[in-house]
Amino acid sequence: MKLRIALLPGDGIGPEVVGQSVAVLEAVCRKFSHELEAKEGLIGGCAIRAAGDPLPQDTITLVKAAGAVLMGSVGHPDFDALPPEKRPEKGLLRLRKELHVFANLRPARCLPALAELSPLRREVVEGTDMIIIRELTGGIYYGTPRGIQEVNGVMTAINTMVYTRPEIERLARVGFKLARLRGKRVTSVDKANVLENSQFWRETVTTLRDKEFPDIQLDHQLVDSCAMLIVSNPKRFDVVITENLFGDILSDEAAVLTGSIGMLPSASLGEHTGLYEPVHGSAPDIAGKGIANPLGTILSMAMMLRHSFNLEKEALAVEQAVVRAIEAGVRPRDLKGQATTEQVGQAVIGAL
Ligand code: NAD
Ligand code: IPM
Ligand code: MN
Repeated sequence: MKLRIALLPGDGIGPEVVGQSVAVLEAVCRKFSHELEAKEGLIGGCAIRAAGDPLPQDTITLVKAAGAVLMGSVGHPDFDALPPEKRPEKGLLRLRKELHVFANLRPARCLPALAELSPLRREVVEGTDMIIIRELTGGIYYGTPRGIQEVNGVMTAINTMVYTRPEIERLARVGFKLARLRGKRVTSVDKANVLENSQFWRETVTTLRDKEFPDIQLDHQLVDSCAMLIVSNPKRFDVVITENLFGDILSDEAAVLTGSIGMLPSASLGEHTGLYEPVHGSAPDIAGKGIANPLGTILSMAMMLRHSFNLEKEALAVEQAVVRAIEAGVRPRDLKGQATTEQVGQAVIGAL
């Protein structure tokens, strides 16, 4: 098969972790006789510097012609004082909209070999295998009205959480269908004790389950107590569905169960091209040092093989190679080891 992918390394550690993921992908192509056609584009702070826009038109053209998109991360301290509209992160938010990737799958599994690395006790985290499905193109991230303006003589900041019934239903369907392939349990997370938006979310999800997925066990959790349960009893979760901002926050929390945020992959899916990126950011504190953990991006690449190219055998081979490399003791700094980004990538290739 010919794999036509767009690479968007981005800022900070992005180029370092994408570089190793491409090396592993090349090894997959050699092993399974696929052909790789990878083209690189700009996104984020580097795109602002080069083209004055965090998502230049060239990048939009590139991703729309690709079979899948593999991204690193965006964000740089130089832009921290700018309004949201002018920041590197805006490029990513626009990219998600351009690709219509409304469902962001963020699996959090605790590998037994890494259970000691979580600040939580082994018996709490070991056996955790949950997946957060975060709504990605709606909610408070995109709702209008928004902005900072003077209202009745007082400076006022406004953001708006908006969801339509079809937006909630299509996200929930992804969750229910995935649950059928796993433990058949879905937890829907909201703040229905306060927000009308969440009351509507809860009612819509419940009605959909009753109508189309009666075989799935559904429970509802308020986001505040859900945050507590993720660290006190993570094994109770199978599939979690939630709106954009809650999913952003809960997925970084779930990273604690795996030992490091550097381990967490993600797949953003819609009707067409999928977008694959690690959950972590550009990590300015370690960028350029060659010590970032590339496994979150390598595992995102595995999700790309599975979801965009239907290459399950290849995806599993990458995931098993990651586990073997970890079990062999190859650990980057965030996993309390000394291995460089490149050594981790090479170890995965070796295990493959
Ligand atoms: P971050 O995820 O970049 O870093 C948080 C901490 O985790 C840092 O100490 C960092 O060194 C560490 N870390 C993250 N990834 C790691 C890896 N692969 N290996 C080893 N250590 C790793 O979050 P932040 O510091 O809050 O954000 C930094 C910048 O990244 C901001 O500009 C933010 O907007 C952006 N960001 C981008 C994305 C994305 O592109 N998807 C996601 C989150 C944050
Ligand atoms: C993530 C990030 C992004 C988000 C930022 C960089 C826009 O935190 O992918 O989790 O909030 O979605
Ligand atoms: Mn985030």
